[in-house]
Amino acid sequence: MNILLLGSGGREHALAWKIAQSPKVETLFIAPGNAGTAQTGINVAINATDFPAIKDFVLANQVGMVVVGPEDPLVKGVYDYFKNDEALKNIPVIGPSREGAQLEGSKDFAKAFMMRHQIPTAGYKSISASNLEEGIQFLESLKAPYVLKADGLAAGKGVLILDSLEEAKKELSNMLGGMFGDASKTVVIEEFLDGIECSVFVLSDGINYKILPVAKDYKRIGEGNTGLNTGGMGAVSPVPFADDVFMQKVEERIIRPTVNGLKEEGIEYKGFIFLGLIEVNNEPMVIEYNCRMGDPETEAVMLRIQSDLVDLLEGVAEGNLAQRTLTIDPRAAVTVMLVSGGYPEAYEKNKVITGIESVSPESIIFHAGTKEENGQLLTNGGRVIAVSSYGATKEEALATSFEGAKAISFDKKYFRSDIGFDI
Ligand code: AMP
Ligand code: GLY
Repeated sequence: MNILLLGSGGREHALAWKIAQSPKVETLFIAPGNAGTAQTGINVAINATDFPAIKDFVLANQVGMVVVGPEDPLVKGVYDYFKNDEALKNIPVIGPSREGAQLEGSKDFAKAFMMRHQIPTAGYKSISASNLEEGIQFLESLKAPYVLKADGLAAGKGVLILDSLEEAKKELSNMLGGMFGDASKTVVIEEFLDGIECSVFVLSDGINYKILPVAKDYKRIGEGNTGLNTGGMGAVSPVPFADDVFMQKVEERIIRPTVNGLKEEGIEYKGFIFLGLIEVNNEPMVIEYNCRMGDPETEAVMLRIQSDLVDLLEGVAEGNLAQRTLTIDPRAAVTVMLVSGGYPEAYEKNKVITGIESVSPESIIFHAGTKEENGQLLTNGGRVIAVSSYGATKEEALATSFEGAKAISFDKKYFRSDIGFDI
């Protein structure tokens, strides 16, 4: 079978690496991909949200399955585009329908869904210009800090956590006034939850599901979890506090009600569900849903899936996931992200990357923001390269990745050398 993978980051390189290992795959195409995915398949210069171009390519190249990496095409309805097209309707898209993708695309939708299905999450109120007064009153009823979330997609920047009531009221007005464009026309105000977070990934065919390895990501730029939020500076799997007792609660109170809730409401969802969880007094609560895999969690999680991922994805497409096996590698897997100096604020691109060939073969290098020009590998984004490694323990895996992170060079390279420090 030929597979088309949509996306271009570290997550997509890790997915491509895993997909390409399957004997079921004839040719793997990645649109648009990066310099790393070009080593595992064929890059195609098509934007992941250009549905007509994707259609033409899929039909011309006998693509038998489309796997969607990022949220954008899903929220824009790539699943529905295929389903409603005579020529495409029999080609499975791994990812939810546009409606299912609203779990990520609208915080208000996600909160209301959790309320309908009694899924544990922070108390909240959705506010728009028409009920601003209610929003102010709700803020006054809460204790600091205050959590404000843009309802729509805001490139990971739409959540503000504020220490004073004054600031919270001011930012609420700013958000409603267009701080994140249309994405913050509605703002979700939430109770602040205090605890440690983890990322749980579920693969579902709409009826059955498999729980993939749990990971923890490190979002802040600075060591000790300080400074600005980034797309993610590293990840580790497994997560010690997400033990069997915790995961049983997660399955009973969160995963099952989510999958059953989607089914009961007639929302088609054949793809990955990403549960951003927080442990509060030993109990799991949902911070957010995403309709895709996490980045950089995928760069660790894919290492721990021993089974053929394409076999599992076929199970999703055919609705018989329950008959497929998921075997998990008992070893730890970690990833350390090399980023451009200045990121997540302004940074420069086009820096020459060297040293990859000197990294120990025990590490797996996933490209995030790279490109190749005239035979040279160049930086092409804030997050540049993820160095993933196995280890008997996370400490061992981290030592290997930090070694690899040092061996790779580019101007103003930065990475966090404390990934995994808090668990
Ligand atoms: P989200 O985009 O919803 O995942 O929010 C981004 C980050 O903000 C999360 O990973 C948490 O660290 C933090 N956050 C979001 N909601 C809450 C909350 N209700 N209480 C505490 N922290 C939160
Ligand atoms: N690592 C968090 C995310 O992918 O949203």
